Amino acid sequence: MILEKSYKINNELVEVFIESDDFNKLNAFLNSKNYHKIILLADENTLKHCLPIIDQNYCMLHKAEIIEVDPQESSKSLEYCVQIFNTLQELQVNKDCLIVNLGGGVICDLGGFIASIYKRGIDCIHLPTTLLSMIDASIGSKTAINLNDQKNQIGSFYNAKAVFVHPIFLQSLSERTLKSAFGEILKYALIHDIDLFDSISKTPINRTDLTELIATCIDIKIHFIELDPFDQKERRFLNFGHTIGHALEAYFSSKTPIYHGEAVALGIVSEAYLSNKLGKLNAEELKLITETTLNKFNFKGVKFNASGVYKHALQDKKNDKTGIKCALIKGIGIKDRLETINKEDLLESLEYLKSMLDK
Ligand SMILES: NC(=O)c1ccc[n+]([C@@H]2O[C@H](COP(=O)([O-])OP(=O)(O)OC[C@H]3O[C@@H](n4cnc5c(N)ncnc54)[C@H](O)[C@@H]3O)[C@@H](O)[C@H]2O)c1
Repeated sequence: MILEKSYKINNELVEVFIESDDFNKLNAFLNSKNYHKIILLADENTLKHCLPIIDQNYCMLHKAEIIEVDPQESSKSLEYCVQIFNTLQELQVNKDCLIVNLGGGVICDLGGFIASIYKRGIDCIHLPTTLLSMIDASIGSKTAINLNDQKNQIGSFYNAKAVFVHPIFLQSLSERTLKSAFGEILKYALIHDIDLFDSISKTPINRTDLTELIATCIDIKIHFIELDPFDQKERRFLNFGHTIGHALEAYFSSKTPIYHGEAVALGIVSEAYLSNKLGKLNAEELKLITETTLNKFNFKGVKFNASGVYKHALQDKKNDKTGIKCALIKGIGIKDRLETINKEDLLESLEYLKSMLDK
């Protein structure tokens, strides 16, 4: 089965193919383009688990030069970029070459960013291999790296030539990595789709049958991208849970790192609290969101200092002269507005999260 989706940024069409059974679309793309060289950006896990599946279905990526990065968030850094640029130069990679990003959100963000600035831009495609990257990071053309542990401080909008989603890759994903995608799935549900919220609240994850869920999430992301490709207004609702989520992710990065999707889930609980305190989300819905979100994860032993997290929120890239910004919702599945959050309210929302984690 093949599902085809697409979106436009800068008048350029980006096609997204969800292929559950084979690799026909990827093969056809590579055959049609005649790239001089193909560079495969991957990590230890995707080389071990995903590349063999591709090789069984097509031989052309055999010829690719492989660049391997460490499988961790800290690979999204300037230091890694410099190393990769040097390798690309040594390999004499020119604008007639292609970068294939085979990995989770870290590889898609890093490889997309590299492709966007190397020689002022060379072609890249995404082959997302985690659930989170299939439903979110590979879609929408945002690329980014971190700076001093602060999330996504340097980046670009850059269209991949296409995105090839193959749910078969999910078979080898660890349970924790698979589950972490639920941070982003809950975000989609809470800003836009009450039915999705109902269904994910009731149904446990079944990794063998995720195509429909992936397609639903991609549709929601495309809906927001098409309203606001460059993140000026509507697209910012996709950041529900992320102001506090990114601050928590940065806070834990120098301790025991938590996964991006887990940080977003924690951020959702705090930002739902703010949606109740400063907006129209009722107390019953706040309780339901909190329970549903925390029940999806194992946050046992997660402890933090609210002021320490607040310091990281001061670096959020949505901030402006008025202060720290959060997207709020007014009900489950209903977005509300972007709001400036003062220090006191932000700390209070973190204390709420702490009290719920301690329960
Ligand atoms: N650009 C965007 O729009 C966007 C959106 C959401 C998230 N992101 C970014 O995505 C990143 C998180 O992505 P992620 O959750 O995919 O994490 P990740 O890329 O770190 O991958 C998680 C782990 O899974 C391993 N892995 C990947 N595929 C595998 C497979 N098929 N089998 C076994 N192991 C596999 C990786 O090696 C890694 O250890 C964050 O940096 C976040 O900021 C970007």
